[in-house]
Amino acid sequence: MSTIRKLTALEILDSRGRPTVQATCTLGSGAVAAVSVPSGASTGAAEALELRDRDPKRYHGLGCRQAVAHVNGELNDALSGEEFAAQSALDGTMLALDGTPNKARLGANAILAVSLAFARAVAVERQIPLYQHFADILAGVTGDAHAPLATLPRPTINLFSGGKHAGGQVPIQDVLVVPAVATTMDEALETTVAVFQAAAELMQRKYQMRMLTADEGGLAPPFANAAAMLDDAVEAIRAAGYTPGQEVALAIDVASTHFYEHGRYHLDGAALDSVGMIARVEEWLANYPIVSVEDGLAEDDWGHWPRLRSAIGGKALVLGDDLLCTNPARIQRAINEGAADALLLKVNQIGTLTEAAQACRLARSAGWRVTISARSGETEDHWLADLAVGWAGDQIKVGSITQSERLAKYNRLLAIEAETHLPLVGWPTP
Ligand code: PGA
Ligand code: ZN
Repeated sequence: MSTIRKLTALEILDSRGRPTVQATCTLGSGAVAAVSVPSGASTGAAEALELRDRDPKRYHGLGCRQAVAHVNGELNDALSGEEFAAQSALDGTMLALDGTPNKARLGANAILAVSLAFARAVAVERQIPLYQHFADILAGVTGDAHAPLATLPRPTINLFSGGKHAGGQVPIQDVLVVPAVATTMDEALETTVAVFQAAAELMQRKYQMRMLTADEGGLAPPFANAAAMLDDAVEAIRAAGYTPGQEVALAIDVASTHFYEHGRYHLDGAALDSVGMIARVEEWLANYPIVSVEDGLAEDDWGHWPRLRSAIGGKALVLGDDLLCTNPARIQRAINEGAADALLLKVNQIGTLTEAAQACRLARSAGWRVTISARSGETEDHWLADLAVGWAGDQIKVGSITQSERLAKYNRLLAIEAETHLPLVGWPTP
């Protein structure tokens, strides 16, 4: 049982210099904690609504003063003095207060900031690490009992960026490094840094490009096409002294929703239909050591996702981001239709911790893998690392191995590793 004494919020800036929300929750016990929420750019249509001020004279309309005012005003007024037996009780109350299906009235950024700040404050009150509290929330354990912790997530780390995070110079959004045989977080990060540095040298030689990076810190030279991007990734793995596909594999976020128009995928000069797009993904899998494919088809191309899964399932994870939007109803549909076998979980796509936990449990109940993911607009807050450990993520996707808003999460994972000595999860054989 925790009683909220006070909720406050502040408009702060994210890693793209855009406003976002930071909320602070003070409990009756005196425990206090703040949380900052991230923001996406390559967003799915079914995401909960991030409330923006739409005042063109301020931050091009992206200000968050209304969301902040909702925390300081309506949410504080309704929730302070109230006692909540569990996270779900607070989140349920906020959903009822908001009263819309997509959190459009109070704003998912306001609601999530409060949801997470409460969780962190309760962890302080219980005098346990945040990752343990997240594990307890997922398992529905309260009081003095604790859910067991098993593993640390395997990081999948952005090497090259394209799409909406890099001005669209190449359609595929991310090519990620998967340190496949590393057995510790420490080793996984060291391997990735070696590959990233080899790639940076390669980009300098091939494109005369200094180490300029995209929104999530990936290198973003003007690749001629997707295959050139993948060729260079393999070359960088070799140049760093690793065997592609054995020691270091690749994951891709095709983010194909963003080049899908009128039933066609506009990729590398072609306008592919869905069957053609699936064939292209299969071709990439045949030529490159790819072990995970995110959003290989568009978010509303539901009819073809089962076909994509039959084509590549078992060889690579069929990971849904825009398709699923961390939304339990969409995940249930994907389970029923055999559309995917892995969930990309972004808490702010759905807007409360309780609904995200429901999404995670649902994916697990179907035997799916779960990747816990950051957004392209991040902050220095590192609660995501605790979430990925507490919810036993198979992977964590934070962006590149540069830029402090990304490194804050990796460094937190290193600290959790040192504290818990948990092993790194094995690469899933799908
Ligand atoms: P976003 O992109 O945070 O800009 O939505 C991340 C992703 O597509 O995985
Ligand atoms: Zn994605």
